[in-house]
Amino acid sequence: MAYKLTEIQRGTQTINTATDRASKVVFALKNYARYDSSEAMIQSDIVDGIETVLTLYQNNIKQGVEVLRNYQKIEPILCYVDQLNQVWTNLIHNALQAMNNKGTLIIDIMQAGNYVKVGITDSGNGIPAEIMPKIFEPFFTTKPPGEGSGLGLDIVKKIIEKHDGKIEVESVPGKTTFTVCLSVNLS
Ligand SMILES: Nc1ncnc2c1ncn2[C@@H]1O[C@H](COP(=O)(O)OP(=O)(O)OP(=O)(O)O)[C@@H](O)[C@H]1O
Ligand SMILES: [Mg+2]
Repeated sequence: MAYKLTEIQRGTQTINTATDRASKVVFALKNYARYDSSEAMIQSDIVDGIETVLTLYQNNIKQGVEVLRNYQKIEPILCYVDQLNQVWTNLIHNALQAMNNKGTLIIDIMQAGNYVKVGITDSGNGIPAEIMPKIFEPFFTTKPPGEGSGLGLDIVKKIIEKHDGKIEVESVPGKTTFTVCLSVNLS
């Protein structure tokens, strides 16, 4: 009887782990599938989008992340709002994962002429030089199976390109910054 019960318990744990992984993959794929061009461009304040994402990640942040906001006044941007929100989501998610939800997250927002720059900096271990050329490739991940699909930065890059923007990354141990540069006057 005891043996049977242990077996059932182990089986249940396996089912739990499997459904957990499946739901994470479904979430990632839904995120990916959302990428379509039917949504119209609208003038939007990207600070709102970034703040929404920070709210959604409050559970992770409160585990031990200090968020520093260096926000300058910026003009609204003509953009695909949902898609840009996906950019902030993926970059902030990566930053929090890199720090294991413990450290400092710095968000810099500034405008220089016709460009708005958003910098997202984390205090995690950084990106080793040898994997740097691969991080934007689809399905490239260093995360355990079920945790990362490796699509995050591929989606980010595609969305930024669609906005005629640029994304750059700089990383040393303890300081990784992704900088997104967007034009204010998109036609
Ligand atoms: N802020 C960061 N610090 C350290 N490494 C990073 C950071 N952002 C991305 N990376 C590296 O780049 C890889 C690819 O990132 P990407 O977001 O495309 O996929 P993922 O996070 O592994 O999976 P997914 O985003 O699909 O859940 C990561 O696995 C990680 O090795
Ligand atoms: Mg990611």
